[in-house]
Amino acid sequence: MSRFADQTVLVTGGTGGQGASHVRALHAEGANVVIGDIDAEGGAGLAAELGAGALFVRLDVSQEESWSAAVAEAEKAFGALTILVNNAGVQNPPALIESTDRATWARILDINLTGTFLGIKAAAPALRRAGGGSIINIASTMGLGGTALYAPYVASKWAVRGLTRTAALELGRDNIRVNAIHPGVVATAFITEPAAGSDAPIADFYSPEPFAVPRLGQPADITALLLFLASPHAAFVTGAEYVIDGGLLLGPALQKEAA
Ligand SMILES: NC(=O)c1ccc[n+]([C@@H]2O[C@H](COP(=O)([O-])OP(=O)(O)OC[C@H]3O[C@@H](n4cnc5c(N)ncnc54)[C@H](O)[C@@H]3O)[C@@H](O)[C@H]2O)c1
Repeated sequence: MSRFADQTVLVTGGTGGQGASHVRALHAEGANVVIGDIDAEGGAGLAAELGAGALFVRLDVSQEESWSAAVAEAEKAFGALTILVNNAGVQNPPALIESTDRATWARILDINLTGTFLGIKAAAPALRRAGGGSIINIASTMGLGGTALYAPYVASKWAVRGLTRTAALELGRDNIRVNAIHPGVVATAFITEPAAGSDAPIADFYSPEPFAVPRLGQPADITALLLFLASPHAAFVTGAEYVIDGGLLLGPALQKEAA
């Protein structure tokens, strides 16, 4: 299939669990892929494995100059940029608000929120030059409620929602759609590895057993939705938010035999 044959996609956090899944699928469907990440070893390895039509750029999403360089490299290599996936994200070490230091708060907001803002800012002119395109922001089900011990992360993902809606309004007339995805708990290093400064991974707190779809999400689950939102099938979808969580936000699926 070559649904994305004439497209160039920049995926931030493109070497991570979900990012690499998006990169591989988009490349397999014909897109040129630009893998933006601070993980130079993983990024260079993935680009080499994919070969033609794949490029790694070292991109720290919290740095504005890093963004201008990445967008310029994408346009230089492939002639245009048409899709941006703001996927890079980090979690805070679990802590009560009163025990959260300002540096931790600032770091999480810098990457998850400011990184998304800088991405839209840097990519919008390129997408406009290309005649239009699609921006997909990866938020979280944690951006739809509260989660004790995760205030910086929760606040950052709530804010990405407002940014998504505002960007959709500002860019709609330029034929640029902007949408958000809210994954539930997905099996990546994000949940199996502790956040910097902590020794407790999210996997320690969470079991999918009570929920309607009693398993962890897989990166491929999220990729399937992302491909839809990036494609012309979603031509009338903008400013929208898609929950993909196996029923996590529905609450527990009580079973008769346990009653
Ligand atoms: N895994 C989950 O359960 C889950 C749930 C909801 C939302 N999310 C969100 O999904 C997105 C992808 O997460 P994942 O599960 O693939 O995690 P992951 O840890 O596997 O990947 C995150 C990637 O982001 C990169 N990154 C970190 N800081 C960066 C920076 N400053 N600049 C550029 N890249 C940077 C990392 O190097 C890594 O490749 C994140 O935004 C995360 O918040 C994850």
